[in-house]
Amino acid sequence: MIWYPYAQMKTLDAPIKISHAKGVHLYTEDGQDLIDSVSSWWSVIHGYNHPEINAAISGQLEKFAHIMLGGMTHEPVQKLSDKLAQWLPGDLDYCFFSDSGSVAVEVALKMALQFNTNRGSDRDMILSLEHAYHGDTFKAMEVGDDEDYHFAFGVNSEKKRGVVHIPIEIPALEKAFEEYGERLTCFIVEPLLQGAGGMRMYDVCFLERARQLCDQYDVLLIFDEVATCFGRTGNRFVADLVLPDILVLGKALTGGYIGHAVTVANRRVYKDIHSSRVKLFVSSSVTFSRSSNNGV
Ligand SMILES: Cc1ncc(COP(=O)(O)O)c(C=O)c1O
Repeated sequence: MIWYPYAQMKTLDAPIKISHAKGVHLYTEDGQDLIDSVSSWWSVIHGYNHPEINAAISGQLEKFAHIMLGGMTHEPVQKLSDKLAQWLPGDLDYCFFSDSGSVAVEVALKMALQFNTNRGSDRDMILSLEHAYHGDTFKAMEVGDDEDYHFAFGVNSEKKRGVVHIPIEIPALEKAFEEYGERLTCFIVEPLLQGAGGMRMYDVCFLERARQLCDQYDVLLIFDEVATCFGRTGNRFVADLVLPDILVLGKALTGGYIGHAVTVANRRVYKDIHSSRVKLFVSSSVTFSRSSNNGV
């Protein structure tokens, strides 16, 4: 039996049964032609059943579907990371692949915590936004702020010690940095648009001020662009407007064909984690935790 997500099974309406799809169209078993205006939760950005993507995937399947990056590498992953580095702004060049947006958020947070540990700092707090949604794994839920997702898991504000949620207002931002700036490891945001938290849009000047304050207090800025990447806000990436230190991409990354995501670090984060014995040791624990999912 299928247990459907984001629904109470007791009151669930019978789901619409899809037989095939093309472009924006979903065709039902009983002959209806529907337009999917949410692109399967903003992932199918090129449309369903796209001939070029179909051909690329079929071609790759003739060679292999998945090979871990633990101790191995291959041309498709090299091409993808080169292309991302070329497309992304600034020195966001270091690509860490994983299997979903939630896990890629976890990787970003681990990078920030590890960066902090490596420099011998005892900073222990994360700044986040009210109404934030960053996925459904436990740390992603902690930095998120959505009761719909959290109440059943006991992830309430008391248990979220070390995570501060602020409204999207510049005075609140400035106050949070004044109060906690020296204790923050990172500030994580869905830039310009909070999706699952209610399609809340906000102004880029909030992000510009956040960048200034992160520089002033030496705090890493993380953009979770799982929902906004590849043109969803009218910019290719919001990172083209304001440069984060760590960027998370997912969903549209594969046009919705497979679950896959990437956490991209800038040179400073990468070099820091790269350049000492402690850093390498802690870094490899990040790598091992993802090794089984590092596919094409
Ligand atoms: C901003 C944001 N971050 C993270 C996620 C989690 O991604 P996934 O569902 O691939 O785990 C989502 C999912 O909608 C999202 O919108």
